Amino acid sequence: MTPTVAVITGSTRGIGRAIAEALVRRGDRVVVSGRKAKDAQRVAKEITAPGPGEARGIGCDVQKPIQCQALIAGTVELFGGVDVLVNNAGLGRFARIHEMKSEDWDAQIRTNLDGVFHCSKAAVPHLIERGGGWIINIGSLAGRNAFSGGAAYNASKWGLLGMSEAMMLDLRQEGIRVTCVMPGSVNTGFGSGVPDPSDGWKLTAEDIAQVVVDLLAFPPRALPSKIEIRPSRPPQKE
Ligand SMILES: NC(=O)c1ccc[n+]([C@@H]2O[C@H](COP(=O)([O-])OP(=O)(O)OC[C@H]3O[C@@H](n4cnc5c(N)ncnc54)[C@H](OP(=O)(O)O)[C@@H]3O)[C@@H](O)[C@H]2O)c1
Repeated sequence: MTPTVAVITGSTRGIGRAIAEALVRRGDRVVVSGRKAKDAQRVAKEITAPGPGEARGIGCDVQKPIQCQALIAGTVELFGGVDVLVNNAGLGRFARIHEMKSEDWDAQIRTNLDGVFHCSKAAVPHLIERGGGWIINIGSLAGRNAFSGGAAYNASKWGLLGMSEAMMLDLRQEGIRVTCVMPGSVNTGFGSGVPDPSDGWKLTAEDIAQVVVDLLAFPPRALPSKIEIRPSRPPQKE
């Protein structure tokens, strides 16, 4: 297997970091990114240590189109091309619609949705140049199940699901596969900042990384375009 070059947005912690680690373990060359270059470089160093692959860090705030272009250009400069883009960067700020701050609405749409557009637009010409590749969008079960307080998050992930399906149709004839991975609750501390040990029923970031590794092993003729993954035994609701 030829080592893949993969870019993962928002990979300084949580699901993105677990995906980056799993790909380095596979022997791939990986670009780790997050808003601060210093954090991305630190994580890249940490996950390169066990090998056999290699990671490098590039700062990228996905809300900023110029930084998304620089992320992809930087990857090409470091590793000679791009095969896989994982659009993972995301945030959740939860409040009822009339209590939601405008800046929280904007931040979620600009990160979870616009960021995917900016990074994908920058990456696709390079994937085409390699003869194909894969774009994996980390959506959410919140992309098809609404909840109170989730208006912005639901809107962003619902939008991302539609966008992923359209991208899949746009790009399949170019040899580029597009998949939307839709996790349920993952114990990363998403929204709160710290994983909670009492949430042992939740999925782990490594479970989602496993989905990505398994996806990349599919033969070229097969395209799993949407994957839902949920905790098998969540606490029962009253
Ligand atoms: N945890 C869950 O239950 C769950 C469930 C379904 C889907 N998801 C989705 O999975 C993805 C990852 O979530 P997670 O749980 O791993 O969250 P997390 O632990 O909070 O990590 C979020 C990552 O996104 C980065 N990030 C945030 N804003 C960014 C921006 N503007 N530009 C670039 N990077 C940015 C953060 O890096 P910096 O702070 O270094 O910038 C961090 O690396 C998100 O898209 C989320 O919606 C999560």
